[in-house]
Amino acid sequence: AQALEAQLVAALERAFPEAAASAREAGTPLDPQLAPASKPEFGDFQANGALPLARPLKQPPRAIATAIVEQLKADPAFADLCGEPQIAGPGFINLTLRPERLAAEVAGRLGDPRLGVPSSEGPGGGAPAPVVVDFSSPNIAKEMHVGHLRSTIIGDALARVLEFRGHPVLRLNHVGDWGTQFGMLITHLKQVAPEALTTADAVDLGDLVAFYRQAKARFDADETFQATSREEVVKLQGGDPVSLKAWGLLCEQSRREFQKIYDRLDIRLNERGESFYNPYLEGVVADLEAAGLLVTDAGARCVFLEGVSGKDGQALPVIVQKRDGGFNYATTDLAAIRYRFAPPPEGDGARRVIYVTDAGQASHFAGVFQVARRAGWLPQGARLEHVPFGLVQGDDGKKLKTRAGDTVRLRDLLDEAVERAEADLRRRLEEEGRQEDEAFIAQVATTVGLAAVKYADLSQNRITNYQFSFDRMLALQGNTAPYLLYAVVRIAGIARKGGDLEGSVEASSLQFSEPQEWALVRELLKFDAVVAEVEEELLPNRLCSYLFELSQVFNRFYDQVPVLKAQPEARPGRLALCRLTADTLRLGLGLLGIPTLERM
Ligand code: ARG
Repeated sequence: AQALEAQLVAALERAFPEAAASAREAGTPLDPQLAPASKPEFGDFQANGALPLARPLKQPPRAIATAIVEQLKADPAFADLCGEPQIAGPGFINLTLRPERLAAEVAGRLGDPRLGVPSSEGPGGGAPAPVVVDFSSPNIAKEMHVGHLRSTIIGDALARVLEFRGHPVLRLNHVGDWGTQFGMLITHLKQVAPEALTTADAVDLGDLVAFYRQAKARFDADETFQATSREEVVKLQGGDPVSLKAWGLLCEQSRREFQKIYDRLDIRLNERGESFYNPYLEGVVADLEAAGLLVTDAGARCVFLEGVSGKDGQALPVIVQKRDGGFNYATTDLAAIRYRFAPPPEGDGARRVIYVTDAGQASHFAGVFQVARRAGWLPQGARLEHVPFGLVQGDDGKKLKTRAGDTVRLRDLLDEAVERAEADLRRRLEEEGRQEDEAFIAQVATTVGLAAVKYADLSQNRITNYQFSFDRMLALQGNTAPYLLYAVVRIAGIARKGGDLEGSVEASSLQFSEPQEWALVRELLKFDAVVAEVEEELLPNRLCSYLFELSQVFNRFYDQVPVLKAQPEARPGRLALCRLTADTLRLGLGLLGIPTLERM
């Protein structure tokens, strides 16, 4: 509970300087070091800050802890919050929140749509500055592969958390829609579908991935084709209308395919591809030149990185302009950083820019981030972060492939998840002797199948590689989407059986006595701190672990403590806990981009 925790920190900050006046005079930083208790029997929190004071104060840490506790006990605001603090071990201070404060906190969250999560304000209370999340970002005319799926799912979850915290989020799809590959694609298009370039209507170019392969095969085999393709790049860059039309057609076709995936997964994105930054590339070079960062090396213009060297011990360059005058992926990313931080109307005026890509691009981002900093493009306090993730592997630990050895198409992967969820559901209905109509089956299978794919990805620590397994992600037990969805369904069932899970609740009617109830209360009150942590560290798996833990604590409570058949004085409190658990799971899963079900 952050609200309670903040009050606790304030009380400790009052107590420490009093207790350690001489340390403060000596300039020793005073940090209460408040942390969640390592075991439930130690209470809710422990403050470890007395220990590092022992040396500067030349006193035993227990004596310092005792002095702090005396200060705390004399503070009425603290006494309101906690019972008597206990000193443990060499000088840890164990703190236990008062039960009535915990119950009041639960009551406060019932019916609060934000469940205690504060909405952030901008600097000085003004409008908050935008946060850019650059995610998904597939390449035109190429396959959107599982790596892009990971970026899409993780980026969307981070964007949702940031949005919920009140930041205006720019969800940017930095699609690869520019570059020399368009030379061969346009050349091929002009030859195989010339009619496409003269009609005003949208045309269907068929399977673009196959189209890309054909173009590539011709490019590799045919020198004349190669020469034409190179000329085509120049024409496109020079703004030739027919080339631009062909380019537009290719982009449009890819866009339609990508959109199908986004629609299925309920992902909102604004396309702002590499081509958007074309007009700003010259400015990047000019800025770097003016900052004295550019060096010409073998005809290419580059910036040599500080503190990064290659195998030969030489400093590594970021190439900004190639020998032939062309720009590259890094130049575009530099232009993008400059644009995103620049104040409007010339730019986005962002304070934080986040990139979600595979870990293989870590050194690319480290390089361009360093150049951007040295160029002075980052405003004070700005954050520029790469959010890397590992590879998606098959059950065998190798790169995910179909049985025939081909790359897995995302559409097929999502279809299979839904089909398997449907088969599981039909089996379960059969076992339970339940009759459900086809619309119900289709809806549950789709929700569960897609939730399983998303959750499996999000629940991993994103940095590690992740083994894709339909069996594991669809299991009803374990840290899976079906397990969490089922907890929500269980609670919805309580309402169907006559438990009142709505309406206003008086704090005084919440009476908790069982340890399972207190365990659930304490778990529920962690939600806001977890959301704040995800906002800070950009690790959605923290939220997943929390929701899993919450479901387990809830299930233990619900299996061991009567709710509908509870004594009249215990019933409102227990129903309130059920309700707050469901609300927390719904909101938490919603922040991960996962909708819940009332029945499944
Ligand atoms: N299109 C790139 C790829 O498929 C990802 C782009 C990531 N975003 C960026 N600003 N570089 O690998």
